Amino acid sequence: MKKFKVGIIGLGFIGMVHLEALRRLDNIEVIAVSETDLTKAKACNVKKVYEHWEELVADPEIEVVHNCTPNHFHFAINQACLKAGKHVLSEKPLAMDSRETFELTQLATANGLKAGVNFAYRYYPMVQWAKDLIRTGYLGKIKTVHGRYLQDWLMFDTDYNWRVEENLGGRARALGDIGSHWCDLACYLTGLEIQEVMADYVTILPVRQRPRLKVETFQQQKADTEPISVTTDDWAAVLLHFEQNVVGNFIVSQVSAGHKNDLEIEIDGSLRSLFWRQEDPEHLVIGERGGANHTLYKDPAVMPEAVQALTHFPSGHPEGFPDAVKNNFIQFYSALQEQPTAQEQATADYPTFNDGHRITKAIEGIIQSSVEKKWIQIFYER
Ligand SMILES: NC(=O)c1ccc[n+]([C@@H]2O[C@H](COP(=O)([O-])OP(=O)(O)OC[C@H]3O[C@@H](n4cnc5c(N)ncnc54)[C@H](O)[C@@H]3O)[C@@H](O)[C@H]2O)c1
Repeated sequence: MKKFKVGIIGLGFIGMVHLEALRRLDNIEVIAVSETDLTKAKACNVKKVYEHWEELVADPEIEVVHNCTPNHFHFAINQACLKAGKHVLSEKPLAMDSRETFELTQLATANGLKAGVNFAYRYYPMVQWAKDLIRTGYLGKIKTVHGRYLQDWLMFDTDYNWRVEENLGGRARALGDIGSHWCDLACYLTGLEIQEVMADYVTILPVRQRPRLKVETFQQQKADTEPISVTTDDWAAVLLHFEQNVVGNFIVSQVSAGHKNDLEIEIDGSLRSLFWRQEDPEHLVIGERGGANHTLYKDPAVMPEAVQALTHFPSGHPEGFPDAVKNNFIQFYSALQEQPTAQEQATADYPTFNDGHRITKAIEGIIQSSVEKKWIQIFYER
């Protein structure tokens, strides 16, 4: 089995999740990191530490780069990696707008490189089981998809993160940060594209107190602040039209007290429905019209074979967010293996830059809809 030499740029909240997940895979060697905070980077015990991301991208030993920087760096870093002939696994969003994300998809294809996105929620074991149930017709014909993704970590005007600033995080904040995951999950599970959207996009806290010192993601620092005006969304409600006359809706919020990382999705079919919640990831609720509702528990002993490949612990041993990220990397690196084993071939299905681009288009349509107060059709390049 080939062992890939990998570099990670950005070691904040999610960068550390990438590092840990990659260290759990035996076909990966993380040989370099780049991080503005050099003390943090040096503490990671990785062979090479670069102060500037350009140096990491120029390192000929590195084959794959994981881009875990704040959003406004994504385009430049992703583009530079692809131009340097390196495969990329980028955090979402791939870039700040769909013109940039499209350019990246074109560049990856032209250079024959693998380019993945960390839409990791796809790879919880019970989401994989849900996908298999839908694929095999257990729900019947899909009719509606609905849900929500709620958080509370930005609910006070004293809560600050670079994401709230449009020039650093992009126009879509709750929508881009967490709504993008919900949309990807809805499209992935149903296999359907979002075709039309109608939305209400709201900035509930138009002024926030920005600390004069740096604040880590999900952390708080309330002393010594300055007021800034905020134009990004704290909350949004979206109606969706998918292909095949499937309808849907979801809300996102980063100001809903008590909800930490509360992604929920429900899919209604002509025979049954299913419901999954990220904060209770080992269960999948099946809704019945003519019989008793029931709950499936994660249990590799009874799960379909296709799902077992991404289930690593026995029943009763919960698998969560770090495991889903690891599973996404298993998918991505399986696709990179030159001579994949049968199992690697079977699991080489990963979220691509094309998926990232299409979700960016949908989110842009959602914002446009709220501004213009009408349904917006999403046009995807063919
Ligand atoms: N897929 C997911 O579930 C998920 C979860 C969280 C974050 N994210 C995405 O990951 C990205 C990072 O988010 P985060 O929450 O980890 O942010 P963060 O602020 O916690 O971390 C960003 C890190 O990048 C470093 N950095 C900034 N500029 C840099 C540069 N030029 N070169 C090298 N390092 C630099 C910062 O010092 C910081 O340590 C965002 O794009 C976000 O959307 C994805």
